[in-house]
Formats: sequence, C-alpha cells, structure tokens
Amino acid sequence: MILPVYLYGHPILRKVANDISPDYPHLSALIDNMFETMYNADGVGLAAPQVGLGDRIVVIDLTPLAEDHPECENFKRVFINAHILEESDDTVVLEEGCLSLPGINEKITRSNWVRLQYLDENLQPHEDVFEGFPARCIQHEYDHLEGRVFTDHASGMRKQMISSKLNRIRDGRVNCNYKVKRH
Ligand code: NI
Repeated sequence: MILPVYLYGHPILRKVANDISPDYPHLSALIDNMFETMYNADGVGLAAPQVGLGDRIVVIDLTPLAEDHPECENFKRVFINAHILEESDDTVVLEEGCLSLPGINEKITRSNWVRLQYLDENLQPHEDVFEGFPARCIQHEYDHLEGRVFTDHASGMRKQMISSKLNRIRDGRVNCNYKVKRH
C-alpha cells in the first residue's frame, strides 16, 4: 500500500523518533508499505517520520545507484532502532534531495563513514561500519529520526537562497507526482 509522504513543515518531521518494541504491530506490513511508497516516488531511502510515524524505522534501496556507486550494488536494507555510535572526521560533499522536500537539491557535507547499531527486519541486532554512498544515505535518513532534514546542514547563505522554496513546501504550494500529506 502506498502511503502519503509527509512534506516539510509537518511537525512529525521535527520530532525525535522512538525505538520500537519487539511486539510492534504489523511491522513487516509497514516495512513493505514503506518500500512500496519509496519506489513509487523514485526514492532510495525513507524514514518512518516521513509517513507520519514517530518510530525509528528506515528503509533503503540503493540498487538504482549501483552504476555510479558500485558499493550500492544489492544494498537493500531495513534499519530499526538505529543509533550512530561513531562517525568519521573525514567528510564528503554530495548533492542530496528528499521526498519530503520536493524540488530542492543541495550539496551537503557528511561523514565518510559511520558505525551504526541497529536491528534488521527480523529484529536481529547488528553493529556495522558503512562508508561511501550507503553511509551518506544512512546519515540522511538518520537525520529524519532525529527531527532534522538535510537542508538544516546547508550554509547560512544557501539556507537563505532556498528559504522561499522551503516556504512554498511548508505552505503546500508544491506539485508532486506521488501522494503527499500537506498539513
Ligand atoms: Ni529525506
């Protein structure tokens, strides 16, 4: 089932998401719906707050990017109760976009690698280091779990330049070819 994507300006995108408990209802159906919602919008990552849920659940499928970023080959993953334990001091600048901020792309500085503690879709615990494009995508989705969006990292000058675009999204004056939730 395709879920509406909550747009920038909705308060759920500014809340810190909570860890889920093992008896979380209909978890696998939610994960399926999140993947379907993400694919329908041509996204490569989606966090639960973007579908209106304050839970630490993230889905990522980077396989469409494997041609340009070999480390993305077969990178289809679910991250539950994710917590970044460590991030590298060395950084990379790359352009990002977000399904909750349609029409905005900004170059964002991110750590080159992160050490992440999380549960997979079967609630098995893991601690892994991710680098390259997966690390970037994880940090972007992780921001959503922490009540942040990628434009928060833009420089003051860039923020000023995109502020009218952000205001348009916040006011619901934006066209999308996927289902969205304005507020
Ligand atoms: Ni996003």
